[in-house]
Amino acid sequence: MIRPMEEGDLGPVTQMEAVCFDDAWSEESIAFELHDNPFCKPYVIEEDGQIAGYLFLWVIFERAEIANIAIDPKFRRHGLGRQLMEQAIEKARAEGCETMMLEVRLSNTAAQALYKSMGFVEMRRVAGYYSNGEDAIVMALGL
Ligand SMILES: CC(C)(COP(=O)(O)OP(=O)(O)OC[C@H]1O[C@@H](n2cnc3c(N)ncnc32)[C@H](O)[C@@H]1OP(=O)(O)O)[C@@H](O)C(=O)NCCC(=O)NCCS
Repeated sequence: MIRPMEEGDLGPVTQMEAVCFDDAWSEESIAFELHDNPFCKPYVIEEDGQIAGYLFLWVIFERAEIANIAIDPKFRRHGLGRQLMEQAIEKARAEGCETMMLEVRLSNTAAQALYKSMGFVEMRRVAGYYSNGEDAIVMALGL
């Protein structure tokens, strides 16, 4: 089940974020996105009664952006990441967005495979975008 993120999800989402990313968003950053960013639409996906993943969608007028997506390692490769992306695309279309953008690490072949399977195409690369010096691939999808 996919539903909007709520205050009570802050703890579990922060914990999962720390497991999933070396440069994890802090609890303060996640709380900001949840409560104070008027452009942010955050979602969680539940499996077996627990939070299995989350996605932060930014809807910035005609442009949408996947700001963050992660699935708990024990729930990966069950189609949950794809379901969250489909939800984000549906929401962005409903909000009138024309394009969806995202950035992904050059080494993150799993995420790139997910995005490509959904129609995203590589637009450009940004050298040294991440704090460890890794390049980013910018991907775009026409909605
Ligand atoms: C990327 C991520 C969200 C994918 O979530 P997921 O639920 O495992 O993905 P799905 O099961 O929906 O996979 C959908 C498709 O993506 C591709 N894919 C997903 N994981 C993959 C992997 N490890 N290797 C290759 N392709 C992969 C496949 O095409 C897959 O379809 P298939 O299973 O029919 O082959 C998950 O790996 C994750 O949380 N990674 C850590 C956080 C992260 O990197 N976030 C993205 C930041 S840009």
